[in-house]
Parts: sequence; C-alpha cells; structure tokens
Amino acid sequence: MSPVTRWNVDWKSFMPQSKIKFLALDRDFAEFRERYLSAWEEAVSSGQVVGGPFVEKFERQIAVVTGRQHAIAVSSGTDALRIALAAAGIDYRYSVIVPAISYIATAACLLHVGATPVFADVDEHGHIDLDAVRTVLPRTGLRAMVVVGLYGNGLDANALREFCNQQDILLVEDGAQSLGSSHCGARGGGLGVVSALSFAPTKTVPCFGNAGLVTTDDPTIAARARLLRAHGKSNNRAPSEMLGLNSALAATHAAQLSASLEQHEVRQRRRDSIAARYLAAIDDSDAIDAPPQRSGCVHNWHKFVVACDARNDLATHLSQSGIETQIHYSIALPDEPIFRSSPPCNAPHARRLARRCLSLPLHPHLTDAEVDRVTQALCSFHAG
Ligand SMILES: Cc1ncc(COP(=O)(O)O)c(C=O)c1O
Repeated sequence: MSPVTRWNVDWKSFMPQSKIKFLALDRDFAEFRERYLSAWEEAVSSGQVVGGPFVEKFERQIAVVTGRQHAIAVSSGTDALRIALAAAGIDYRYSVIVPAISYIATAACLLHVGATPVFADVDEHGHIDLDAVRTVLPRTGLRAMVVVGLYGNGLDANALREFCNQQDILLVEDGAQSLGSSHCGARGGGLGVVSALSFAPTKTVPCFGNAGLVTTDDPTIAARARLLRAHGKSNNRAPSEMLGLNSALAATHAAQLSASLEQHEVRQRRRDSIAARYLAAIDDSDAIDAPPQRSGCVHNWHKFVVACDARNDLATHLSQSGIETQIHYSIALPDEPIFRSSPPCNAPHARRLARRCLSLPLHPHLTDAEVDRVTQALCSFHAG
C-alpha cells in the first residue's frame, strides 16, 4: 500500500496558496511585453524624451476618447488637477465645494492654488450630494465645485450641469477614476469646464510610472494649461507668463500609455465580467453591500468597493484565503489635518463609507481560478 493511500493525504494541498494581489502590473507587462518594449524603444530612440510626438499622439487619443477638443498631458494626476484648477482661473478668491470623501489630491490641489475647500457630504453613490451642497454653499464670492466619479461609477452629469448653471458655479471634474465611464450625459474625462485624469499604476489605463492629463473644450484654458506645465513658457527662450510647474510628460510614458490604451476595450470587458461575478456572489449577502451603480451611466470598475459593518472581519476573512484588499478611503476628507482651516462639515455618509468600505482585487489579469477563489470567499463570509 502506498503512503498516500494509507494516510489519504493530498500532498499538493500543503503548498501555500498563491496570493491574489490587489494589483498586477507585472502580469500586464508579461502579457504586453513586446508592445511596451518597442514603444519604449521608439520613444527613447526618437531623441526627444520629454514632450514631443509620442506625447502629442497620446493627447490626441485621449481627446477622442473623452470627447474633448483639447488634451494636455502632464506628469501626474495631481499635477493635472492642480493645473486644471489654475488654468480655469481658480485661486485664493474661490470657495470650492468638494465631496467629503475622495483621494486626498481632490481637495489638496485646492490648497495648492490658494482656494478654500468647502466640503459637502456624499450620497449613496459616494458622489457629492447636491442637497448637502445647498446647505454649505457660500452665498458670496467666486464659487466652483470639483466632482469625482468615485471608484469609476458614473455621475449624474445633467443634474450637476443644471445646478452649476443655476448657481453660477464653475464645474470641474476630477476624472482620475473615470476614464471609460459614462456620467449619464458626459464621458468620463469630459464633464465640466475642465477635467483632470490620472494614469497612475492603479488606474484602468496604467502607466509604469506617473502620468496625468487635462482635458477641456475651452481653447483659453487649454493654452493656459500648456503654459502652466512648463513654468509659464511657450518655449525655452520665451518669457515666463505665469507661475507654473515642470510637469511635461515623458515620451516613454506616453508611448507606453498609447500602447496600453489600445488594449483598453479588451481589458474593460474583462473588468466588467469579473465585476458581474462579484456582484452575483454578494447578491444574497446580508453582511456585504454591493457597490452602487448609477442607472443610465456606465461604471468602469476602476475599483470594486463593497461596504460592510464588519469591514475588518471581512478583510481578515479574505486575507486568510490569500486575497489582498485595500481601503479607499479610511479617512473622510474633512477629518484630514491639512483641511483644518476649512469650514467644519457634518458628513455622516462620507464618514460611514470611510468606516465600511473595502476594495476587492479587480484587474483584468485575474485568472478565472482566482476570481472563483474571491467569489467563494465572499460567499463563505458571515458577519459574526
Ligand atoms: C480621485 C483622484 N484624484 C486625484 C488623483 C491623483 O492622481 P495621481 O496619483 O496620478 O497624482 C487620484 C489618484 O489616485 C485620484 O484617485
């Protein structure tokens, strides 16, 4: 009798389960290695490693997919937002309404341009709630609003436009999470007077480094954004017309991003199908709330964020199955020390989301077996 039969042991089960990583840019590189290597090589051999034709090509591609007239590539999403705000003329004279939960950069960029962030609570989508905005809206002075399609869920573009028109508010989109979403009446990256996009490694079109982009239909804002990314200079010898940054995009990043963008449709379909599997797995769960989807909009599943009263127990349960999770975001923005000079904000929904949210791994390189492991772990979770 062989030892296996005698002990009835499956020796393979002793191998530690491989970890399901939250992000897998290494797999992205493995899959598209040839395309990326040749994109990088072409960019480097062109001799122009910052700005230039590869950057202009990427700008034209993003202008088309966001439905905008102008796209100005910069070196991060944070710079894109900072430049977008400054190019739209937002400065110390402005009070700018922002959602009480988002990535820190959404509101931090307002401090960079000297404006005052005024926080408003969010709705069930984690989006700025116009009823809450009415209660915090400064009655005097210049006013703007920065909206965020949180996690890739679409915003109600028509309602936002109408509200901002009526109230004489400049509408700015922080579209860092929205490329490929639709906002029920506008494309992600195509809402408001100006939008800022991010191509950080976590995003749906990921850069192997940092990259961002400003989009607008306004030629004056576009021209100002171009100056702002180059210390206010239209060329090296030109005078500096405004206080700017050194934020031109590297040609290598632009070339790789163009190659990555060309894979976007296929990757988006994979994201959609994984999201559908996760949604089905938690459909009957009493313990886990599914991510909301605004009807009439298109979610790009940049993040798949569930909500759960026992959030830490759920994270531990998933971790015991080798599944990495993250939290976006654990601190509501009004509670961040850097915003202590902003008017106090009662934001019960944002704070509740910060306590309950948990982001599951969702990227196009998850295998079917890994998706099965996540869905099984979700199904076997019961809050204690
Ligand atoms: C909503 C939001 N705004 C701004 C940013 C800043 O982009 P970046 O990380 O490219 O600077 C991000 C990126 O994570 C984001 O998610």
